[in-house]
Amino acid sequence: MGKVISIFNQKGGIGKSTTTINLGAGLSKKGYRVLLVDLDPQSNTTIGVGVDSEILDKTIYDLLTNKNDNKHEIMKVVQFTEYEKLDVLPSDITLSNAEITLSNAMSRESVLSKILNKIKDDYDYILLDCPPSLGLLSINGLVASDGVIIPVATSFFSIKGIKHLLDTIELVQDNLKPELEIIGVLITMFDSRKKISKDIRSQLVEAFGDKVFKTVIRINSEIEYSQDNKTPVIFYNQSCNGYLDYMNFTKEVLNYE
Ligand SMILES: Nc1ncnc2c1ncn2[C@@H]1O[C@H](COP(=O)(O)OP(=O)(O)OP(=O)(O)O)[C@@H](O)[C@H]1O
Ligand SMILES: [Mg+2]
Repeated sequence: MGKVISIFNQKGGIGKSTTTINLGAGLSKKGYRVLLVDLDPQSNTTIGVGVDSEILDKTIYDLLTNKNDNKHEIMKVVQFTEYEKLDVLPSDITLSNAEITLSNAMSRESVLSKILNKIKDDYDYILLDCPPSLGLLSINGLVASDGVIIPVATSFFSIKGIKHLLDTIELVQDNLKPELEIIGVLITMFDSRKKISKDIRSQLVEAFGDKVFKTVIRINSEIEYSQDNKTPVIFYNQSCNGYLDYMNFTKEVLNYE
């Protein structure tokens, strides 16, 4: 049965989608069957693995709003990518309506969980790219998950919202999903020349101890180029820092138990 992991932080632009895409690519490269679930109307994960979000018949939004948990119907929405063992449950801009539509649904926090339960057996890892908000989509993501990975960028504002983020996780653990665990905190966009990067890393290690992944994702322009080319950096350039860092991070996730 596949392990479900949310990549979660309500702060925008800190590397959630990049991490979802490249952890997924790294795991698939290691031979695991991976499904990426795009919970963000921006569709960065969908596009990032080369799927055109503008021509899709059906997306995750249709499954969430029709509460469709028929396995055959779900698999019709899943898109294969050009990479072996890497599939995506795509989103498009219509997902921005989900917060409202879901708010009137029965068991509105566990709609996604029911959908993923039907297809868990087909995958080793299911990775959820959460939107930059603490709304119902993110809550659905957390409730559906076994574990959560929190990317944190090493910039001045990035640790401000962490208390709020941890409160949300605790709320989900206390009321909806007691088994949900924090797998770890991933430092992203690290710039070793900047004191602020090192300071924030120290603060995170102080707060989270060995929950902070040893691997740090360094700033690397190849990551941006790879996204321009709609390709995970893992498959785009296998000699850049982005590749090395995300492969090391993948190994750490595999060693986590
Ligand atoms: N290590 C890195 N080095 C350089 N650029 C990076 C790195 N990680 C991410 N980026 C770039 O930073 C931008 C934001 O990254 P990403 O989309 O992964 O963040 P996000 O947290 O998913 O954002 P959002 O909250 O909007 O969904 C993207 O343009 C991405 O290419
Ligand atoms: Mg994103």
